[in-house]
Amino acid sequence: MVVYTPALYKKQGKKIPVVILGIETSCDDTAAAVLRGGTGILSNVISSQESYHAKYGGIVPEIASRRHQENIIPVVAEALERAAVTLDDIDGIAVTRGPGLIGSLLVGINVAKAIAYSRGLPLAGINHLEGHVLAPHLAGAVPVPNVTLVVSGGHTSLYRVAAAGSYELLGCTRDDAAGEAFDKVAKMLGLGYPGGVVIDRLAALGDPEAIRFPRPMLNEDSHEFSFSGLKTAVRTYIAGRGPEAFTEQGLHDVAASFQEAVVDILVEKTIRAAHAASVAAVAVSGGVACNSRLRLRMQERADREGLGLHVPPPVLCTDNAAMIALAGLHRITRARPFPFDLNAASRLPLGSRADEMS
Ligand code: KG4
Ligand code: ZN
Repeated sequence: MVVYTPALYKKQGKKIPVVILGIETSCDDTAAAVLRGGTGILSNVISSQESYHAKYGGIVPEIASRRHQENIIPVVAEALERAAVTLDDIDGIAVTRGPGLIGSLLVGINVAKAIAYSRGLPLAGINHLEGHVLAPHLAGAVPVPNVTLVVSGGHTSLYRVAAAGSYELLGCTRDDAAGEAFDKVAKMLGLGYPGGVVIDRLAALGDPEAIRFPRPMLNEDSHEFSFSGLKTAVRTYIAGRGPEAFTEQGLHDVAASFQEAVVDILVEKTIRAAHAASVAAVAVSGGVACNSRLRLRMQERADREGLGLHVPPPVLCTDNAAMIALAGLHRITRARPFPFDLNAASRLPLGSRADEMS
């Protein structure tokens, strides 16, 4: 096994990888991107399966992996085409290896392996969470150390980021992820799936103080989260109000009040973690980072506290392959070996031993 280091690349007259093809199929989006250097997103193609899963009220793993199989080759081809490159221009392949749905992950991994093997390119298996942590860096310089909140459909975690590749988990959710709570509350309100974006839109027309929902663990001295009690409180409220909760104003007020509770928790815990970790900057990433109220309130609070805030544009907050390519660029140039027996991992805590071994 050859472990490529930047020095070995030079010695063998090889190019140090600079153009990376990223592939992401961990959940229900089939995505491929071409990244040049740390910030040059040449293409970022995302094929959403939302409409296939919506009628089931959530992601059906079997459908997800079948759609990935159909989509992956056209999506990779489109990423190359939009970037105006061919496989000859690619220096390395990065692919999400976990956490996620095994059947979905395997589709991306097998295509990545096939391309890497046939073209003799270095392969990097990437932790999806590392992608989210690094996504803000695609949009501009983000100082380190910082505290990064990853808030998505599957995760709500705070990390102290010392450098690319150096992540300390400060705390995460004990039960539901914030995005999961958005989706479940949306389902209770009959708003369809995925619900975060609909709640965001309805909440803009409601009163965030109309209903005082609980803020679980807000006053506890820990960096952990809990959203399942809040979800239950919304369910109990809706059951108590009956049809009144479903009038136009009723829906707006429930959406706004629920969203306000989530935002209060996310903002307060992130700022507190930043102070505890003695950093001057915070970053937010993951699908829920698209939420307009969270973006506004986090900015106001960071300004007040004298902290720099870095939130990427929405297309880089939700699942994408540009963030996987960036993580791959760091991994490949840091010379970790990624043999072709690289496998998918449904659970893969960022920075764990399993994550380091490849
Ligand atoms: O990062 P992501 O695309 O996939 C995961 O890795 O989970 O995040 C998807 C999650 C979903 O739960 C979705 O409802 C939520 O992000 N989301 C939002 C908004 N846009 C997406 N939640 C609240 N407000 C939004 N505007
Ligand atoms: Zn994600």
